[in-house]
Amino acid sequence: MSTATIDRQALLARDATDPLRDFRARFALPEGVIYLDGNSLGARPRAVSERLRQAVEHEWGKDLIRSWNTAGWIDLPQRVGDKIGTLIGARAGETVLADSTSVNLFKVLAAAVGLRPGRRRIVSQRDNFPTDLYMAQGLAAFLGQGHELVLLPDEPDAETVVAALDDDTAVLMLTHVNYRTGRIHDMHRLTEAAHAAGALVIWDLAHSAGALPVDLNAAGADFAVGCGYKYLNGGPGAPAFVWVAGQHQAGFAQPLSGWMGHAAPFAFDADYRPAEGIARYLCGTPPVLGATALECGVDLMLDADMSVIREKSVALTSLFIELVEASCPGLELASPREAAMRGSQVSFRHGHGYALMQALIARGVIGDFRAPDIVRFGFTPLYTSYCDVWDAVQIIAGLIETGEWDQPQFHARAAVT
Ligand SMILES: Cc1ncc(COP(=O)(O)O)c(C=O)c1O
Repeated sequence: MSTATIDRQALLARDATDPLRDFRARFALPEGVIYLDGNSLGARPRAVSERLRQAVEHEWGKDLIRSWNTAGWIDLPQRVGDKIGTLIGARAGETVLADSTSVNLFKVLAAAVGLRPGRRRIVSQRDNFPTDLYMAQGLAAFLGQGHELVLLPDEPDAETVVAALDDDTAVLMLTHVNYRTGRIHDMHRLTEAAHAAGALVIWDLAHSAGALPVDLNAAGADFAVGCGYKYLNGGPGAPAFVWVAGQHQAGFAQPLSGWMGHAAPFAFDADYRPAEGIARYLCGTPPVLGATALECGVDLMLDADMSVIREKSVALTSLFIELVEASCPGLELASPREAAMRGSQVSFRHGHGYALMQALIARGVIGDFRAPDIVRFGFTPLYTSYCDVWDAVQIIAGLIETGEWDQPQFHARAAVT
């Protein structure tokens, strides 16, 4: 369809034949809101409320401490981890829920540099998500062994990354889908190149898991981490996940050696002995309520076919770009134009992006802003319709045409953007 032939009616018809159309009713989306921020916080699956009520009132309220055994609380990290694993090409026993993405990154980075003794370089890119860089800086300082974080320029292409790998490189640490622009790294090629240089690879899947097909084992990857609260719809502050390739699990015990990662936590030994397998990446007591909510989001996603999700994601993001470029002057595309290079988000640059986004939110179109000038829109095929895209663009175009976004209240910065 070209822009000239697209209209709301045509998109309503497209929604009516969308193979994912029935999933929208399984999410609680407020009336009058077009939610384009599932890349930051996924919408609430309806099933979460009843499941959490049961967990709170029955498992916690009535069964109390017995629920660690009777309700399977103690197995939640592995059980939900394995379910997430099926979305990212993991084998059973390679993925576990734990802590936050930042903390998990610290664990796998420690493991990766530990498995490459004598090598000092950790290669990443300047526009990686800052927490990844901060955790690497913190670990390097803590180890005190002269590790150096080498930062490639923003959005490096594959050749630039490959050229940066040498025989002093311990780890290549990248986010698969760039949080700011949605650009996708070639996981297979870069993993292979890192291995050819004798280095290991860590992939941050925060904007990939649940958003597009990922196959860590097919790529031969070493370590991965990711968030539960974005495309997995696990709720605010949901636990994160960590994936470690089977062949690396026995070789290194990560340094956050809490009791839940012990081989026998309830033996209460004085000495740490790491658990076999992925359980050694656990640290403290699992966040049961958060993991329970996340399981609802993951279960819902497992009912859908990831290739169908990706197909619709590409269609939604392509449609959005086409409509914005046809009717919203002043917005400059910051995401790759080529769909194969783009995750499930679209970002545009605008000189007053913050105010524009606040004005959009006031009109019910929720995306977010990333400094200095990016307005970011996430597309979640399970609940975003083609008609949402049309309606959102009409509102953006209207705000730009009237200049309505340029009002003082939209310029006042809140803590979270
Ligand atoms: C790529 C990436 N990594 C990590 C994080 C943050 O992880 P956490 O706050 O769970 O530690 C984010 C958050 O948006 C992210 O986009």
